[in-house]
Amino acid sequence: MLLAALLLLTAASATLWAEDGEHHGGAKHPKQTGRALAQAPALWKTECGSCHMAYPPGLLPATAWNRQMDTLKNHYGVNASLTAADEKVIRSYLLSAAASGRGAAEPPASSEPPRISRSAWFIRKHDEISPAVWKRKSIGSASNCQACHSGAARGDFDEDGVRIPR
Ligand code: HEC
Ligand code: HEC
Repeated sequence: MLLAALLLLTAASATLWAEDGEHHGGAKHPKQTGRALAQAPALWKTECGSCHMAYPPGLLPATAWNRQMDTLKNHYGVNASLTAADEKVIRSYLLSAAASGRGAAEPPASSEPPRISRSAWFIRKHDEISPAVWKRKSIGSASNCQACHSGAARGDFDEDGVRIPR
C-alpha cells in the first residue's frame, strides 16, 4: 500500500508545473520534466529520439500520447511504426509520466497527431517569436526544442536556459 502510494506520488510530480502571472489568469505550463527521464526505457530514447529529440512524457497528456502511439504509421508524413512489443513498452512509459492536472489540456484536434507545439501553454509562452525566427536554418520548426532550450535533453525548459540561435 505504502509503496503504491509512493509510486503514485512520484508519477504525479514527474512534471513540475509553473504558474503564469495573474495576467494569464494563473494558467500553467511545464518547466521541469526531467524527473521521469531517469525511469525511461532505453527503447524510448533510441526509437523516439532518432529523428528528433525524445520529447519528455510530461509535455503531453495521456490522451494525446495514446493518439500519437495509435498513429505511428502516419507520423507527420513519416512511418515511425514499431513492433507490437516495443510499442507496448514505450506507450506504458509515456502514459506513466504524462502531463496531468491543470495546464495539461489536450492540444486542439487536427488532421495530424496532437503536437506539443499546438498546446495552449506552448503558444502562449512562444508568442513573441516571429514566423521568420521559427524558420531559421538553425531552428527549422517549433518542434526543435533543443535549438533554443539548452536543457531540453535533460527535460529542463526553464526560461533561464533559453538562447535563440541566429
Ligand atoms: C522516422 C522519424 C521519426 C521517428 C522514428 C519518430 N518521429 Fe516524432 N516526428 C517526426 C517528424 C518528421 C515530426 C514533425 C516535425 C516538425 O514538424 O518539424 C515529428 C513530430 C513529433 C511530435 C510533435 C512535435 C511538436 O511539434 O509538438 C511528437 C510529440 C512526436 N514526434 C513524438 C514521437 C514519438 C513518441 C516517437 C516514438 C514512438 C517518435 N515521435 C518517433 C519524425 C519521427
Ligand atoms: C525559437 C526558439 C525556441 C524553440 C524552438 C522552442 N522554444 Fe520554448 N521558449 C523559447 C522562448 C524565447 C521562451 C520564453 C522565455 C521567456 O519567457 O523569457 C520559451 C519558453 C518556454 C517554456 C516556458 C519556460 C518558463 O520558464 O516559463 C516552455 C515550457 C517551453 N518553452 C517549452 C518548449 C518546448 C517543449 C519546445 C519544443 C517542442 C520549445 N519550447 C521550443 C524559445 C523556444
